[in-house]
Amino acid sequence: MHITKLALENFRIYPELQMEFSQGLTIIVGPNASGKTSLLEAIHLLATTKSPRTRIDRQLVRSGAPYSRLQGQFVSTQDQATDISIVLPGEHADQAEQITTAKQVKVNGAAIDSVSQMIGRVPVVMFSTEDLSIVKGSPGYRRRFLNVATAQLRPRYLDDLQRYRRALSQRNEVLKLIRHAGAPRSGVEPWDTQLIEAGAALAADRQEFTQMLSEAAELVHGDLTDGAERLVLRYQGDLADSDDDEARKGRFAELLAQNEDRDVECGYTTVGVHRDDFSMIVNGTALRRYGSQGQQRTAALSLKLAQADVVTAWREEPPLLLLDDCLSELDVCRGNRILELVQHLQGLIITSPVLNEILSARSDADFFRVENGSLEQITPGAAEMQ
Ligand SMILES: Nc1ncnc2c1ncn2[C@@H]1O[C@H](COP(=O)(O)OP(=O)(O)O)[C@@H](O)[C@H]1O
Ligand SMILES: [Mg+2]
Repeated sequence: MHITKLALENFRIYPELQMEFSQGLTIIVGPNASGKTSLLEAIHLLATTKSPRTRIDRQLVRSGAPYSRLQGQFVSTQDQATDISIVLPGEHADQAEQITTAKQVKVNGAAIDSVSQMIGRVPVVMFSTEDLSIVKGSPGYRRRFLNVATAQLRPRYLDDLQRYRRALSQRNEVLKLIRHAGAPRSGVEPWDTQLIEAGAALAADRQEFTQMLSEAAELVHGDLTDGAERLVLRYQGDLADSDDDEARKGRFAELLAQNEDRDVECGYTTVGVHRDDFSMIVNGTALRRYGSQGQQRTAALSLKLAQADVVTAWREEPPLLLLDDCLSELDVCRGNRILELVQHLQGLIITSPVLNEILSARSDADFFRVENGSLEQITPGAAEMQ
């Protein structure tokens, strides 16, 4: 997958932007706060309808503007083009004519009303320095990564997730009513049934995804560390030890029944896949607790490069890969290794604060400089080297 055109209107720092890409590698340089991440964010938003940085769409609209408009054209390895446009209402959307207050997404000119209609059309993987949280942060970061990554691969996953979340919040309401209003215990039963159905499906997908990701990450991470480190991922959760659908459902039913008294006391559900996690282990030790900053950073990158491999295997379409600032803190040797690992991809966009020697040596790339929300194509020469 690669992107051929991008047009932005009032998106973040950009009042207006038109950009064309060729197949292969695009390198975008610019100082801090010039708008590099925002460009990748715009591409990610078009491909998935979601920003990787925020859930609040209004933050994406340029301050003071009534709305933001994004357009992109993506082309698959089979030469199939997909045009996507998104309109996001801003703070003052209600004062602008002809702009509704809801987000509008169109694919090839036709409006779509559910994210699941978009899934997998334009596979994209983005790495940014914030991904360190997946390695270091609380389990919530890893669950979010699992959800976003798996949802791109399995259209049904998002439906299961929504079903699970609805059932969970309804069950929690009932638990509170049992505790505080003496409601009958039987009120949890319909929600238990839904939780078990959706939860078992989510656990199966997460199990399979984590397994494939682990195999891919071991290879990538071995490559990035010259074979010095072996990275393994392990799916963890209440249903992680069950290996088929019946076993998962049975186990979940058992856990819900065993913990019902405690759940009533707490007023929420204490078992289930909403507490899932996965561990990242390097050479036998847990990276989250014992890894050095450098090891954790490299592992975060390995995870995203491995995700790109899994997407390629599942969707039979290599994703568009967006690497935000990933080379700036690595030595030349490792930076070159990363570029070698991803060079089979048709669409690869890299940002960097400076045009270092690894990047400027790439004669196959298109180079752009971004400064304060405006963009120009450049030819790297001696003057550009820093
Ligand atoms: N909604 C917005 N309206 C106007 N400017 C914004 C908005 N959101 C972010 N910015 C500006 O965009 C800049 C940051 O852009 P970013 O893409 O993160 O830069 P970089 O990745 O090059 O460091 C900051 O100057 C910030 O103030
Ligand atoms: Mg940035």
